[in-house]
Amino acid sequence: MKIISVVGTRPNFVKIASFIKETSKHKDIQNILVHTGQHYDEKMSNSFFRELSIPQPDINLGIGSGSHAEQTAKIMIEFEKVLLKEVPDLVIVVGDVNSALACALTASKLNIKIAHIEAGLRSLDRSMPEETNRVIVDQISDYLFITERDAEKNLLNESINSSKIFFVGNLMIDTLLMHKEKASKIKQIASGDYAVLTLHRPSNVDNKESLSNLLGIIRSIQSRTKILWPIHPRTKKKVESFNFNLKEMENLTIVEPLGYLEFMNAVMNSKFVLTDSGGIQEETTVLNIPCITLRENTERPITCTRGTNYLTGINKKVILGIVNEIIKGNAKEYQGIDLWDGKAAERIVSILKNEF
Ligand code: UD1
Repeated sequence: MKIISVVGTRPNFVKIASFIKETSKHKDIQNILVHTGQHYDEKMSNSFFRELSIPQPDINLGIGSGSHAEQTAKIMIEFEKVLLKEVPDLVIVVGDVNSALACALTASKLNIKIAHIEAGLRSLDRSMPEETNRVIVDQISDYLFITERDAEKNLLNESINSSKIFFVGNLMIDTLLMHKEKASKIKQIASGDYAVLTLHRPSNVDNKESLSNLLGIIRSIQSRTKILWPIHPRTKKKVESFNFNLKEMENLTIVEPLGYLEFMNAVMNSKFVLTDSGGIQEETTVLNIPCITLRENTERPITCTRGTNYLTGINKKVILGIVNEIIKGNAKEYQGIDLWDGKAAERIVSILKNEF
């Protein structure tokens, strides 16, 4: 079986790590790794390959940043050349980023089978660029590997045939369970009681008013507890271009994006996490660390019902109320989620081996 696995951004690297490890155990699987280059620098890309022992990509499309149309179109043009040369049996895309959409569309036009890992998640918010990517990739995929049972309902609602849907668990959690112990042993970046903050959603950071509201909330929280903020490059640019002054927040420490192990270590040792990320809602749940999700909706509702996640939007009163409860020791506890057991990659590979 000849597979092409596609990655482009930080969360893709984390998910593909456990899948590549698993396929490498099977001599009858040739797994070609294509990196689109959507994330490209040392901190957003290279360090993940090293720390997660992901082999260097066989092919790097070197696309880099750009508008959505530009990024998607450039990836499609370059990826088509790869597909025509390699003629794989299957293209694997993970998650909901532009790289996944571009490569799935390209494969679909060439009648090459597509597997979507992390299919069926829905925020039901079409203003989110990732939601468009999710819906389209699922429509054109042949194998839909889901992380939670609710995803199946979402797919059936969109008329996807149930024979294409496979409940396999969560690759991001496979990778977390595999590296948790190592991450716990590295040198801690922050000490004492602190929270971790991450922000990168366009709806939160691209608009001056929302970012200013969020920074107001962060100002209040840091007056109670220290905050460590590994800042995403797009957020850093926005803070600079809006001329926000963060210097007077004495308890807020801003650092460059962290590597995987450093970030997991920081989360594990924190009191709670504030984030607008998708994957971090899942990782904090399994690590049993309270997570306040600064968004109006989540495509990962199971992290709220069975995990440690609170969906708050950017409502200051609600957020400060939850922070108070967490500090008092009244946080939600992780209640376990079906198949988030570190064996998702194994299940995916065994299904694919039956099919090809
Ligand atoms: C992308 C994904 C988002 C995912 C996130 C994880 C889409 C639509 N968005 O958002 O779903 O949650 O990745 O981080 O695919 N930049 C660097 N170095 C890099 C990469 C980017 O400095 O290695 C800067 C560039 O200025 C770029 C900006 O970050 O313009 C944003 O990068 P981009 O890939 O467009 O989107 P993300 O916000 O990272």
